[in-house]
Amino acid sequence: PLTRSLSMTSLSGLPLWDEEDLPVDDLLLFEIAWEVTNKVGGIYTVIQTKAKITVDEWGENLFMMGPYYEHNFNTQVEQCEPPNPAIKKAMGALIDNGCLLGDSPNVLAHFHEWQVGAGLILCRSRKIPLATIFTTHATLLGRYICAGNVDFYNNLDKFNIDQEAGERQIYHRYCLERAAVHCAHVFTTVSQITAVEANHMLHRKPDVVTPNGLNIKKFSAMHEFQNLHSTNKGQIQEFIRGHFYGHLDFNLEKTLFFFIAGRYEFSNKGVDIFLESLSRLNYLLRVWNDVTVVVFFIMPAKTNNFNVETLKGQAVRKQLWDTAHTVKDKFGKRLYEALLKGDIPDMNTILDRDDFTIMKRAIYATQRHTLPPVTTHNMLDDTSDPILANVRRIGLFNARTDRVKVLFHPEFLSSTSPLLPMDYEEFVRGCHLGVFPSYYEPWGYTPGECTVMGIPSVTTNLSGFGCFMEEHVSDPTAYGIYIVDRRFRSADDSCNQLTQFMFGFCQQSRRQRIIQRNRTERLSDLLDWRYLGRFYMHARSLALSRAFPDKFKMEPLAPPQGFRYPRPGSVPPSPSASVHSTPHHSDEEDDEEPYDEDKEAERDRQNIKAPFTLGATPE
Ligand code: UDP
Ligand code: G6P
Ligand code: GLC
Repeated sequence: PLTRSLSMTSLSGLPLWDEEDLPVDDLLLFEIAWEVTNKVGGIYTVIQTKAKITVDEWGENLFMMGPYYEHNFNTQVEQCEPPNPAIKKAMGALIDNGCLLGDSPNVLAHFHEWQVGAGLILCRSRKIPLATIFTTHATLLGRYICAGNVDFYNNLDKFNIDQEAGERQIYHRYCLERAAVHCAHVFTTVSQITAVEANHMLHRKPDVVTPNGLNIKKFSAMHEFQNLHSTNKGQIQEFIRGHFYGHLDFNLEKTLFFFIAGRYEFSNKGVDIFLESLSRLNYLLRVWNDVTVVVFFIMPAKTNNFNVETLKGQAVRKQLWDTAHTVKDKFGKRLYEALLKGDIPDMNTILDRDDFTIMKRAIYATQRHTLPPVTTHNMLDDTSDPILANVRRIGLFNARTDRVKVLFHPEFLSSTSPLLPMDYEEFVRGCHLGVFPSYYEPWGYTPGECTVMGIPSVTTNLSGFGCFMEEHVSDPTAYGIYIVDRRFRSADDSCNQLTQFMFGFCQQSRRQRIIQRNRTERLSDLLDWRYLGRFYMHARSLALSRAFPDKFKMEPLAPPQGFRYPRPGSVPPSPSASVHSTPHHSDEEDDEEPYDEDKEAERDRQNIKAPFTLGATPE
């Protein structure tokens, strides 16, 4: 039997898994998914970030299978001979004959999502002796129905699911998904909310809920992540200087960067209510007229490359930079020579006509007759693109008077981009707030990723992540997790709530933002695979005990217990409540009680209750 024991304790006081008893002998684990080495969305993140703890447990007995794409093969894996003789034989047989699995050792096969469901169904129908797990990261029907602006959650029990699938022309895929779910020894999903949905859409209640974790990077210096914020923000500011050339009449020190990112599902990801709320925020900030917010939309859409105006912006910025440095060098040289002669040079003549000419030329190049563009790329579908259509409707065109500026980057970020050369992690670290007001979101990695990097975010009570935070954190807002109610309020009320969250955030002083980021980062332990990985272990143990009851007995894991992060020890009770009633934004004028981060962290650590409720799925 697979046994585990809890022993080590982390900084936050949460227990960690002891790695003794590992790995499991004479047992192979296969993990199969369309997103193995193939980034589409969050499932890639699950597979990729979980790999380390799974390898710690299974060593060379773990195999992952995904689609073959030459580019991914070249960049993400190394070619090698199969280390295990059984696998070598099976691969040989596959190469020679097509398909075979002969004298196999005990095998546990974990399938993610309907795309690989056929493998599970065939294994079972051919009675191949495997223990099988099927994890769904969403239901096909749920995703499709929600995208159509339907009141999904209040009608879960009323849908005629076969008919709905047929009408959406996904009947074949839905059948694959449903068959895989019912064939699996163990069925799991990523959140309680999706467990309820799966029960209705697939007619099987998940056996285990496996919340998504992340690899938590702990810095040796406490505040290293704050420094990273500062450095990466500097890079975003540089990009903004270029993009808004000729229109840089806002103070970058009083400019906040918000963003939304993920697969481009307009209403499921809540882009609709986000845009509407931004329009309201723009109004509020124009009245207040102090802070500017630049909002990035990072969602891949069809494009044919960067647009000229955007590239020009960065070229103009570079030209100004080069000009400044050329003039500075000349100035320095003349000053140096004068000082060598014992003179203080005449500042009115130290620069000559040429210097003024190149400076004037550079300034002239910054004049533009168009507004800074909303998109960074040429969109193939410019007229009907939902983000652009709504930007036109609400009129957020990056005018000088707008306090909310909008930037649509319809491609995932990459450090090799000529435009914004940052990878996603660096970008997130440099921003102030991630905004993810999803309507359909089984988990939603993006706010979790913000959390572990110490960046506050907005999520909703319809996302697996948001519900998980509500369950485990007493006052999520105080920790920089703003949860919009999209379940029990009208869309208009949700927009108002989101607007207020964002406006409240804008009213914080720099000091308040720094304190809030410290708190946010403290929640990281909650999302560490070193705890959350246990749900996968539990699912595997359950599958083995169901498939091979004579050989494997299910060892019960830690009994269910309550777990909650307390409200932060020090004032204020919540940042939104703490903002001054008369908005101000000076960093010097804070006169609150002295704040001791270490003391507060220690106090909170004492109060945390561990561990999680294990594997329970809702009725
Ligand atoms: N992401 C990325 N590059 C980007 C923007 C997003 O790799 O430029 C990733 C992000 O790190 C996250 C994933 O896309 O892990 C989105 O996952 P999520 O669970 O939020 O949503 P999904 O797209 O799977 O519905
Ligand atoms: C980090 C840095 C500080 C910097 C601050 C800016 O905390 O360590 O030196 O002042 O970021 O924060 P802001 O929220 O204004 O980007
Ligand atoms: C799916 C869901 C997303 C989740 C991801 C990983 O793509 O849409 O909410 O985070 O899977 O489980």
